[in-house]
Amino acid sequence: MSTLIYLDNSATSFPKPEVVYDFMNSFYRNHGVNPGRSGFDAALEAEEIVMNTRKLLTEFFHGGGDPNRLTFSYNASDSLNMIIQGLAEKGDHVITTMLEHNSVLRPLHHYQVNGVIDVTHIMFDEHGYVHPDDIKRAIRQNTKMVIVNHCSNVIGTIQPIGEIGRVCKEAGVWFVVDTTQSAGTVPINMETMGIDVVVFTGHKCLMGPTGIGGSYVKDNVPVKYTRFGGTGVRSAQLTHLEEFPYRLECGTLNLLGVAGLHAGIKWVLENGMEQLHAREMMLWDKLRKGIQDVGTVTMYCAESAQNHNAVLCFNIKNFEAGDVGTLLDVDYNIACRTGLHCAPKVHVGLGTDKIHGTVRLSIGPFNTEEHIDKAIEAVKEIAEIRK
Ligand SMILES: Cc1ncc(COP(=O)(O)O)c(C=O)c1O
Repeated sequence: MSTLIYLDNSATSFPKPEVVYDFMNSFYRNHGVNPGRSGFDAALEAEEIVMNTRKLLTEFFHGGGDPNRLTFSYNASDSLNMIIQGLAEKGDHVITTMLEHNSVLRPLHHYQVNGVIDVTHIMFDEHGYVHPDDIKRAIRQNTKMVIVNHCSNVIGTIQPIGEIGRVCKEAGVWFVVDTTQSAGTVPINMETMGIDVVVFTGHKCLMGPTGIGGSYVKDNVPVKYTRFGGTGVRSAQLTHLEEFPYRLECGTLNLLGVAGLHAGIKWVLENGMEQLHAREMMLWDKLRKGIQDVGTVTMYCAESAQNHNAVLCFNIKNFEAGDVGTLLDVDYNIACRTGLHCAPKVHVGLGTDKIHGTVRLSIGPFNTEEHIDKAIEAVKEIAEIRK
C-alpha cells in the first residue's frame, strides 16, 4: 500500500506538527489536572497554560483587551451556537451569506422556522466573493448582526472582511466572523477589521487537535449565557456568572486540547503564517494548472490565488463527485472530501447542488510537490476512463 496522500486539510489538518503531539503528551502527563479549581502546583500550572493560550489567541486576533473574553469550547460549531443563541432575540433580523457552513445556517434556520428571527442570505459573485454593498443594502432597522464565513471551506475564497466590518460599524450592527478556515493562514485583526466576535476552531489551520475551539467577544457585545454550570468560583451563587470567561464556559475545560492548540499556534507563528500560506498557494497553483487542461474537468472559483486559500473544488464530467473520491481513495490512496461539505447553499450558488456537490482537494503545510504531481496524474487518469 502506498503511503497516504492527505488532501483533506479543510476537514482537519493532518498530520499535526510533531511539537503538538510531543507537547500534548508531556503536558498531560505532568499537568493533566483540573485547571481553575484548586491551589496545588499542578493545578496552577494547568491554569497557567489556559491563561497563556487565552493571551496568545487574544493577541493573535488583535482582540485588543481582556484575555478572559477569549473563551474555549469544543469547536467552532459549539461557539457559533453560543454566539447566535446569546445574541439573537425575538424580532431580530440577521444577515449571513450563501457561503456559510451548517454551523451557522442551521442555528439561524432553527430560530427562523420557530418565528424568532428573520434571515437574509447574501449571494456571492461568480468568482466566489460577497460584495460589501450587497450586505449594506440588506441591512434593516431591526438587523442585529451580520455573520460571515471569512474563508469558504468549499471554494476557498477569502472574503473582504475589513470592508464588511466598516459597513457593519456604520450601520451599528454586530459583526461576527467565522474564522474556522482562515485563522492560521491569513491575518485577522478585530480592531482594524471592525469585527465584534471571532469564532475559531483549533483543529484546522491553527494545527491543534480536535475538540477545542472558541470565540473572542469584544467588550460591548451583549452575548447572553445560554449554558449553566460549574465554574470553580463563587460556588454558593445559583445564578450563572456574568463575567468572562465563565459567561461562556462551564464545566471542566478540555485541557489537553488547550495544550495542543497552544503548541499548534506557536508552531504556526514560528514558521510564519505568511510563509506557510504562500507555500500552500504555490502548491495550489500547481494543482490548478495541472488539472485545468483536462477537458472534462470543471473547476469552481479558482481563477486566481489572490484572496484564496489552498482549496480546489472541481468536478469531472460523467462522474459523480463521490465516485471520484472513491477512485482517488482506493486506486491512488489520496484522501479528499466530496459532496456538499456541510455548506449546502454554496452548492446552490454554484449549481452543483443538483449533481451531489463537488470534489474538494485541500492542501496543508505537510503536503509536497510530489503529492500534487500524484494528484494531478490521478485526476487525469480518472478523467480518461469516461471521456
Ligand atoms: C467554514 C466553517 N465553519 C465552521 C465549521 C465547523 O467547524 P468545527 O467542525 O470545528 O465545529 C467548519 C468545519 O469544517 C467550517 O469549514
